Amino acid sequence: VTDARPIGVFDSGIGGLTVLREIRALLPEEHLVYIGDTARVPYGTKGPETVRTYSVNIARTLMQHGCKAIVIACNTASAYGREAVAHLVQRPTIDVIDPLASGAIQPGVRRVLVLGTRGTVASQAYPMALARKHAGLTVEQRACPLFVPLAEEGWTQGVVPEEIARTYLADVCVDGPPDAVLLGCTHYPLLESTIRHVLTERGAVHTTIHHAGVYTARTLAAELRLNDIAASPAQQGKTRVLVTDDPGGLDAVARRFFGASPGPIEHITLDLG
Ligand code: DGL
Repeated sequence: VTDARPIGVFDSGIGGLTVLREIRALLPEEHLVYIGDTARVPYGTKGPETVRTYSVNIARTLMQHGCKAIVIACNTASAYGREAVAHLVQRPTIDVIDPLASGAIQPGVRRVLVLGTRGTVASQAYPMALARKHAGLTVEQRACPLFVPLAEEGWTQGVVPEEIARTYLADVCVDGPPDAVLLGCTHYPLLESTIRHVLTERGAVHTTIHHAGVYTARTLAAELRLNDIAASPAQQGKTRVLVTDDPGGLDAVARRFFGASPGPIEHITLDLG
């Protein structure tokens, strides 16, 4: 059985394109519909109820596009909206937190540092997911809110982002460097080299840094197989990127997150229910 219906992917904005690019690379045969809620970004500073409602609005809209599965490519929406979305869509729902938590726990990992938005950190979603996978980990978290605008501005290297990273990471892991760092926010992969630089200054030379994108794409692929809803390998997957605010001028930012142009960015009005 093959299934030509699209997969719905969403984020609070454009950052989720770091996840979409890995899905595109792993599953070239799948049609993908991406919604970025650029009119209401950021989610990382908003409360649980707001983020849950926004996530449900998007999921409902994706269902109108006939999506066979939903990927919540936003960490904050994964933390607060996952259950409500899964309940609404009654389709396979993949978030970014579980795949990243599983993927990062490799042999020898004991001390874990999670970086995310204020909302993601406050939700405790990562410490809980990590504890479910492996007992006895030491988990520290830090919210790094300024990384989001820096990534959008393309200010990912140099004195300013380094100084900000140094400030955020000044008091982490005082008992020794982390074995694994989880980039628990869509935007942080763009700052990986700066984060690595600052961690190295602090003696963390053997630390591995993990992104959600690859692990999430693999989890999605497994879910499609498990539910027998994968597309035919002969299909040429199309990518549609839809945003809730004016799409004008977004192409340059989208290229930074997607690694290439994702094609024309269209406007969409959400179904607010
Ligand atoms: N997409 C959000 C996340 O991964 C970051 C941007 C925002 O705060 O909306 O948590």
